[in-house]
Amino acid sequence: QQAEIGVTGLAVMGRNLARNFARHGHVVAIHNRTFAKTQALIDEAGSEGTFVASESLEDFVASLARPRKIIIMVKAGPGTDAVIDELVPLLEEGDIVVDAGNAHFPDTIRREQQLAEHGLHFVGSGVSGGEEGALNGPSIMPGGSRKSYESLGPLLEDISAKVDGTPCCTYIGPDGAGHFVKMVHNGIEYADMQLIAEAYDLIRRGTGKSPAEIADIFTEWNSGELESFLIEITAEVLRQVDAESGEALVDVILDQAEQKGTGRWTVQNALDLGVPITGIAEATFARALSGSVPQREAARDILPAGTVEWHVEDPDAFVEDVRRALYASKVVAYSQGFDQIAAASDEYGWDIDRGAMARIWRGGCIIRARFLNRITEAYERDEKLPLLIADDFFAGVITECLEAWRRVVAGAAQNGIPTPAFSSSLAYYDGVRADRLPAALIQGLRDLFGAHTYRRVDKDGTFHTEWGGDRSETAVGGGFK
Ligand code: 6PG
Repeated sequence: QQAEIGVTGLAVMGRNLARNFARHGHVVAIHNRTFAKTQALIDEAGSEGTFVASESLEDFVASLARPRKIIIMVKAGPGTDAVIDELVPLLEEGDIVVDAGNAHFPDTIRREQQLAEHGLHFVGSGVSGGEEGALNGPSIMPGGSRKSYESLGPLLEDISAKVDGTPCCTYIGPDGAGHFVKMVHNGIEYADMQLIAEAYDLIRRGTGKSPAEIADIFTEWNSGELESFLIEITAEVLRQVDAESGEALVDVILDQAEQKGTGRWTVQNALDLGVPITGIAEATFARALSGSVPQREAARDILPAGTVEWHVEDPDAFVEDVRRALYASKVVAYSQGFDQIAAASDEYGWDIDRGAMARIWRGGCIIRARFLNRITEAYERDEKLPLLIADDFFAGVITECLEAWRRVVAGAAQNGIPTPAFSSSLAYYDGVRADRLPAALIQGLRDLFGAHTYRRVDKDGTFHTEWGGDRSETAVGGGFK
């Protein structure tokens, strides 16, 4: 029997994706570099559907119906190129190779071009939702040619998460678009997690509540407008007690946050495109700060807080303030992430539909949240919306949260509690809504020390003041530098 789809790389994500296809009634070809993993899948989950197991890559390829659809699920990096190099000679025109790992999108662009030269389709696809999502329905972000989506899309949509009957999978755009969108998803995931961590820290230090008590607060938040997977699992982590010490697990976990690179790539790309994704950037740097061990040691006993003891008068009101600060900052992080997607879509010619991105993030993925519906609606109202937080609904949310947000950021600053994501989001909010920014002074300085020129508010053109001479102004030709 010819298989409809193949999966090579049967570590936990690949294995679960293969099982997901099988459970949906698709015949799945499976392959792994070492056969033991393939055998283990058959032994443990073979009864869930129809698997066609192969020991060699040749047999694996031969077991697939044409056009072949092969999902590579290996650790992102050189391993992906190695598998592609082995596969290409075995494939025929029109076959589809899907990289479902967290590849960096420039690699995906390169691989797509490389395979197109062989008449093959290469699909860089984001897959979010971790192990559980891969098995029971992830959010899937496939890029590549539209043609490839005709035959691949229905299969992916079938195994994806569904929200209100709508699959959390859609065609994203050419070459690197799918992996790009997954990268920004992860950037937002970083921001979301940092905001949650700051909220927890503020409540703990401001009210003295225990992790278990704070878990209850998160559970309560999860029944309101903040409802989301990350809020839900925060309660779970905070409630966990360490068997060995009897302490809250969160108190025995080393406070150094790691990362595999997607957040860093998001920030690097935002710098290239000139998009201020300050929430995501601060979240990424906060992880780096947590891991800056020598610097933290050097600072700990030397640098004073210079603050007074913190007394939160009304703990319930304070918790509600923190909830609002979290909501507003979270909206800013999403707004910034969607700006980055728009800028990249223009820059790389991807034509990405931002409303559809919010739609496929409603289920399956790590950042799934109730309020994503509202983002989709905002882009449905205005496809070209220049700023998500300026949409009526989100402007309303922020207006409701604003006073609380300012109180929280000011209180944190006064009491020496680091809230990089809360505060930078508020600074972004105040920056983007400002009538005038002190950027005018920066332009003046640049002109003085480097004759970099400036534009004026009252007439077109580019100007330079003769700082070293009579301080008269001259109109200079050329564009704005
Ligand atoms: C997902 C996750 C997944 C992974 C992150 C973790 O969407 O399922 O984002 O891709 O858990 O890459 O990233 P860090 O190790 O960088 O935190």
